[in-house]
Amino acid sequence: MQKRPIPIILDVDTGIDDAFALLLAAKHPDLNLLGVSCVDGNCPLDQVVANTMLVLDAAGRADVPVAAGAARPLVAEPNYALAVHGEDGLGNINWPKSTRKPVDQFAVEFLRDLILGHPEKVTLIPVAPLTNIALLLTEYPEVIANIEKLVIMGGSAGLGNATALAEFNIWHDPEAAQIVFSADIPTVMYGLDVFYDVHIGELQLTNLKNSELPAAKLAGEIGEFIAGILGYPITIGDAGAVCAVIDPAGLELETYPTAVITDKGPARGMTVVDRRPYRDTVENERALPDARDVAVALKVDSERYAKLWLQTITS
Ligand code: RIB
Ligand code: CA
Repeated sequence: MQKRPIPIILDVDTGIDDAFALLLAAKHPDLNLLGVSCVDGNCPLDQVVANTMLVLDAAGRADVPVAAGAARPLVAEPNYALAVHGEDGLGNINWPKSTRKPVDQFAVEFLRDLILGHPEKVTLIPVAPLTNIALLLTEYPEVIANIEKLVIMGGSAGLGNATALAEFNIWHDPEAAQIVFSADIPTVMYGLDVFYDVHIGELQLTNLKNSELPAAKLAGEIGEFIAGILGYPITIGDAGAVCAVIDPAGLELETYPTAVITDKGPARGMTVVDRRPYRDTVENERALPDARDVAVALKVDSERYAKLWLQTITS
């Protein structure tokens, strides 16, 4: 029997790998992309919104509504990643901008209405700082009943990338991440332990860039930009979190108590994952404070997800 497409919403800070995720989410037949919310992160909010609409147009999905959300973190000052994503957040490739406008509704109410208005539970895929999601869960906790799960690109059970200990999306707004990670929602953490492992090589990017298909051509051009900064092969990054919804068997998950550090010290923005096998036997005062069980992605079938992404964006 034909499975019904999975209803999903993406929360993005488009950026290059957010674009990879949007192209996959917009084009894969097993997904029903209800809408996209935007937050500041890789680049300022206005640029995130413009980039997001440009990417959805390239995917042939101008029907997907886009909403602008938080322009800054809850407490921290914004810290953009323009060195990696380019001054415009999308590889400075001067792709034609969308003529569309975002919806005339703040992203938090947009998310509330999309989630509560859908007849099935919705899978939320944040691949950006969690400011919008924290505001949503704080202001409208009733949405939790209609969220199937969170599949978050963020965090790490090991080392960081924004700092020695913290991953960028969590580090950009740790207070928001703490709110989201402590909410009572089934959560998959697609973090740095797998984020860099799904590779696209130079020849594959050249073929994409030479494609007649706008989605493939866009992916190839922005992929070549980030390869010029970080080298080959590139990672599909955020798109891996979308792969995890389409094909969960490609990911190895283990569930551990996880908490976010919001102190102002060197660990700020760190996701602490308690993997001690004896953790339940030690005295409570040594348990991780404010932790909640999260399904942490520790291994990914890299070739499987790279093939899934390439086949979909060239279809
Ligand atoms: O740490 C990687 C994350 O930070 C990705 O979501 C990337 O787009 C940036 O937002
Ligand atoms: Ca992102």
